[in-house]
Amino acid sequence: MLDGSISYQTDAYVNGDWITAASGARFDVINPATGEVIASVSDLGHLDVERAIAAATAAFPGWSGRIAIDRANALKRWFNLILKHEEQLAQIMTKEQGKPLAEARGEIRYAASFVEWFSEEARRVYGDVIPAHTTETRLLTLKQAVGVVAAITPWNFPAAMITRKVGAALAAGCTVLVKPSELTPLTALALADLAEKAGIPAGVFNVVTTSDPEQFSVPVMSSFDVRKISFTGSTAVGKMLLRRAADSVKRVSLELGGNAPFIVFDDANLEAAVEGAIASKYRNAGQTCVCSNRIYVQEGILPRFSALFAERVSQLQVGPGTSSTCDIGPLINQKAVDKVQRLIKNATEGGAKVLLGGSLSPLGGTFFAPTILIGGQDSMDISKEEIFGPVSVLYSFTTEEEVIQRANDTAFGLAAYFYTQNLARSWRVSEQLEYGIVGINTGLISTAVGPFGGMKESGLGREGSRYGIDEYLETKFVCVGGL
Ligand code: SIN
Repeated sequence: MLDGSISYQTDAYVNGDWITAASGARFDVINPATGEVIASVSDLGHLDVERAIAAATAAFPGWSGRIAIDRANALKRWFNLILKHEEQLAQIMTKEQGKPLAEARGEIRYAASFVEWFSEEARRVYGDVIPAHTTETRLLTLKQAVGVVAAITPWNFPAAMITRKVGAALAAGCTVLVKPSELTPLTALALADLAEKAGIPAGVFNVVTTSDPEQFSVPVMSSFDVRKISFTGSTAVGKMLLRRAADSVKRVSLELGGNAPFIVFDDANLEAAVEGAIASKYRNAGQTCVCSNRIYVQEGILPRFSALFAERVSQLQVGPGTSSTCDIGPLINQKAVDKVQRLIKNATEGGAKVLLGGSLSPLGGTFFAPTILIGGQDSMDISKEEIFGPVSVLYSFTTEEEVIQRANDTAFGLAAYFYTQNLARSWRVSEQLEYGIVGINTGLISTAVGPFGGMKESGLGREGSRYGIDEYLETKFVCVGGL
């Protein structure tokens, strides 16, 4: 089994079967680099989704009842298969999502690292013995799986956002229905193929493909059997799901939008700050929730920083993700291009100047040139909305107090970054930033071993790390009397 090669799947994966929609409907998946249709995928409707919920519900007692090492071993086999098929998975991902192959390979390794991490955490789900309040009682806590989980995952990380949720859920003993983005279902189906080959039992991990998110969310949110929802995506959709979860009081984890400040103090190592800003801004063509959205540079070093930054950004190559020299692939679709263009227009009308790029790349389509705007103002739309494109905006600031106030002046609170060589400032600023993740002297904060999640309207709960599994566990208090 472990040697089985990956199969290219286009049907949904429910209860261990590859299924088509009862209606026979299918939807197209488009390569954003070429605009070509690359697959036609089963387009499930709400009745198919109800069958999937029933399958996950039926599988729950068996899976949660296994001893932890059994679940850990199944996850370990899945991890090994994902790594073994890194290249094939990366090729599928680049084709449907557009990111450069090197980044796609990196994402597959990142995705696998969550499965490995949670395969290990499965064996460390401990309860407690609590000192009792009377001599006749004994008190303890048990940690138990919350039940059936519905996970809704985005197109920007078609593999890692699935394994970050599913790894933790399966380790805890939950069964899962994943609805991948309709833009990138093929990576999810390839992961399901490998999960099946790893021996994860029927009904435990289901991939429900649909072009209409409501066909998934209406039956899932109204089902009492689905006890938890985990969503990565926009704040607007997250709020809607949170409201709908109230009717059956589901547990909710939300990883929503960001508006990351990236602050460069005048005591920073400038070259390192430039590299950090590039890493945090231009990864995945700027299409991540933790991409720096506002680059604040202390006024005295702004001219030097912007010159160095522009020189480095101008070297970034735009092209199809399959090209070995490309650093920046296409944006996911025309809607993404329209948003980036609207934000640039609003900023330049408000007085920002284009230092680099500012328009589509000569390749056309949805390829956008790496862009730098200078003279950003906090009142501009671009400083309030998530850009989700390869566009940096430089803002000038004077004092530490001022920049912290400006950095925190947003409803979002996912990731923030700053560069300084001053130790006292490192502590001060990291404590004052109202963000769930703070990068000091680094532009890359993503790892399976660190807790990922936001404050304020950026979300609820944490993924990855030793905290991630808690989201899928109930704490049951057992009070033994009459001793
Ligand atoms: C995201 O953009 O939602 C996730 C980014 C990451 O895990 O690094």
